Formats: sequence, C-alpha cells, structure tokens
Amino acid sequence: MVTTNKGPVAIEAQALKALAKANGVRFEYEGAVMSGTPVIRMAEKTLAGAELKGFEGILNGTSNFVLGRMEAGLDFASAVKEAQELGYAEADPTADVEGFDVRLKVVILANELLGANLKPEDVSCKGISGLSPSDIEDAAQANSRWKLIGAAVRNDDGSVTGSVSPKRLDLGHPLAGVNGATNAVSLDTELLGAVTITGPGAGRIETAYALLSDIVAIHSAGASAIVKEAA
Ligand code: HSE
Repeated sequence: MVTTNKGPVAIEAQALKALAKANGVRFEYEGAVMSGTPVIRMAEKTLAGAELKGFEGILNGTSNFVLGRMEAGLDFASAVKEAQELGYAEADPTADVEGFDVRLKVVILANELLGANLKPEDVSCKGISGLSPSDIEDAAQANSRWKLIGAAVRNDDGSVTGSVSPKRLDLGHPLAGVNGATNAVSLDTELLGAVTITGPGAGRIETAYALLSDIVAIHSAGASAIVKEAA
C-alpha cells in the first residue's frame, strides 16, 4: 500500500499501518513529505543509529518562493500571484502561506521519525502573511533571511513539540540558502549534528518517483524476508 496523500497520513497513519499489518501488507508514504526527496527513508534507514533529536525544515515551496520574491522587492500579493502563475501555489494559496500545509508535514515527520503521537491541532501554526516588506528589509540588513520553518523537537521528558512559524535565519544556517520552490530538512542528530537533505517538494515526476521508491522498498523488504526464510 503506497500513497503520497498527506492528509490521511497526518491524521491516521497509525490506523492505516495497523490496517496494512492486519492484511499482511506494508504501508509506505515517502512522498507525503517533500515528494520524491527521500527524507523519511534517509532519516530511518540511512541514519539509523544516529539518534534523531528533532528536525527543522522548509516544507512548502510556495511560501519559500514568495519570501524570495519579497526579498527581490515584490509585495506579498504580487509574489503569491506569481507563485500561482508558475503552478507552485494551490488555487487557494491559504494552506501554503498560512502554514497549514507545513503543519501536516510536521505531524507526519514527528510521528514517523520521533515516535510522537501528534495531531495537527497540537502543532502551533503561524504563516508568512504577516511579514511586511520592512521585516524582509530589516532581515537583509542584518545578514539574515526569513524562512517558514516547520520543526519538531524531542523534549527532556520524552514528549515531542511541533511548530510552524516564520524564523529569521542567519545566512550561515543550513536552511538559509535554500531558495525558490525547493524544500529542505535539517535533521538534528545526536552523533552527527545537523544532516540536511534538500530537493524538490512537489511535481508530477517527483511525486511519481516517491511512489516508485516506496514500491521498490516494499519489494526489497519482501526479497530479504525470502532470503532469511531460506537461510
Ligand atoms: N503547494 C505545495 C507547496 C505542494 O508549495 O509546497 C506540496 O504540498
């Protein structure tokens, strides 16, 4: 069972996984976050044992594009219109610019990678529509840049806190140089520090690749199970 549909995964991942297990199949959803850019598999498989403590990411291409265009001098409404014309933004861009799209992605990553049990309403959410041209200009004067950041962190008591909000990042921050509609996630690991993956977060071929990568992963797991049985 594979999907890239983030809504059902954010709200019912556990139930869908249990349903898959009861039917003797696997449930994979790599493309629900960052489409074909393999953030879930990289965190779970490639970085296994590195002890993930949290993450922060640019998880909405539209809002990142809009912030970049505002840095170039456009006002918010014109930048959103341009994003719509280029096909980045949804027809109703509210979910893009108000952080609701990012909030679903934070829930998916926090629950899958940090073992949390968050619902969307548990994650504080503030978008970029309140940023003014002078906020953008002030950041540039201070060698920094606004980004819409979706993040989650494991607290000392083991609980996980998720958030979505605009953050002013120093230009040396791993996410500060991610421009245009590109997405990125910086994984905070105990053993390696920050490990950052960047790539497309949407698109037809990119999303289809996510499904292919899930199907390959399911077949590889099936093949290794057969090898183990034979041994
Ligand atoms: N409209 C979304 C974006 C697409 O701009 O990133 C992927 O959720």
